[in-house]
Amino acid sequence: MRSVFAAALAALALFCGGGRALAAPVEISISCASLGVELRLCTEAANRWAAKTGNRVKIVSTPNSSTDRLALYLQMLASRSQAFDVLQIDVVWAGVLADHLIDLRPYMGDAPRAHFPVLIRNDTVDGRLVAMPWWTDVGVLYYRKDLLAKYGYAPPRTWQEMTRIARAVQAAERARGNVRLWGYVFQGRAYEGLTCNALEWIDSFGGGHIVSASGEITVDNPLAVQALALAGSWVGDISPRGVLNYDEEAARGVFQTGAAVFMRNWPYAWALAQSPDSPVRGKVGVVPLPSGGAGGKTSGVLGGWHLAVSRYSKHPAEAASLVAYLTSAPEQKIRAIEASYNPTYPALYDDPQVLAANPFFAELLPSLENAAARPSRIAGPHYNRLSSDVWRAAHDILAGEAAPTRVAELEADLDRLKYRARW
Ligand code: GLC
Repeated sequence: MRSVFAAALAALALFCGGGRALAAPVEISISCASLGVELRLCTEAANRWAAKTGNRVKIVSTPNSSTDRLALYLQMLASRSQAFDVLQIDVVWAGVLADHLIDLRPYMGDAPRAHFPVLIRNDTVDGRLVAMPWWTDVGVLYYRKDLLAKYGYAPPRTWQEMTRIARAVQAAERARGNVRLWGYVFQGRAYEGLTCNALEWIDSFGGGHIVSASGEITVDNPLAVQALALAGSWVGDISPRGVLNYDEEAARGVFQTGAAVFMRNWPYAWALAQSPDSPVRGKVGVVPLPSGGAGGKTSGVLGGWHLAVSRYSKHPAEAASLVAYLTSAPEQKIRAIEASYNPTYPALYDDPQVLAANPFFAELLPSLENAAARPSRIAGPHYNRLSSDVWRAAHDILAGEAAPTRVAELEADLDRLKYRARW
């Protein structure tokens, strides 16, 4: 009698969810960006997970601008909104959002060990793994192979050379009736993307990382001033004034329609520039960003997006399962082949299919490994404030303010922030 009772109890326990396979299906909502083909990729991958696990997914599209997306998240998380179970977060937000995110470590098994260690360190805040890397990014220079060949130029190695080539090709092409052509497009709008560009200019001149590894504000130095002054000189010369309002997609729009010689962007723009309906298909090359000349070096900023689970999710285990699935190597391989998103697994950089789809990935690996980190670990929860001070100063310089005085003001603003934030 007892054994029949025990067996019945065991069967009941299994049915009630002791066995996960029988747990009632739930709906997990995930925030995805819609830059380029991101929304389609995210939807397809999340649907694969849903089909595999029997759960449902709800895709919530969020603004393209990283800055606008953060504002939305902060507002929703502050009200403990359950609208998102899984959040796509920028590599620089681990410290900003950590308090609203669960520790994923118990759900991920050995998976974190196979990613670039620097990314796992980035996502570990006070010992908690608050996100898992989904793809990594580094700023690169796109150039028109056909136009450089036509005028006998090799891809530039310094920003000064880039400026000269851009100016010469722009003038020569305009004289031949190609009047819409500009020399250089980049992200000049006042938002996170401009902080990335500004840090690349400054670091490539040897002017440091804005904040030193020990937390000192270092931006007010002659090399940083020179770098920002050169960028300021581009506007109205080799870059349209509209660049003051360009984000990634605006810059890509101009470059991909054939109206720019050079573009600074992330690797995702490669697959789109090469797509069958792209007017510049077959005419584009990618190289590391130029250096600031003597004493400088090439510097691409580390970017990328990671996945996190909201602390207010009603289904953290299922949400973590979706994160584990989307960040797995097979899923990252699909994104790399279909849309040039850089995997966060070093092993995928040796994969012949990944390399066939993205011939420049092999060359990109050193840029990725040496990518310049924005000072988000030092600033932690204050990073967005720090970055907005940086992008406002850079934007003012692009709009015509004198670099030496504006950089001195930026240094003072950041010193005040450092004092209040006590880092
Ligand atoms: C890209 C990067 C991200 C960066 C953003 C700025 O999406 O991956 O890290 O913050 O661009 O616009």
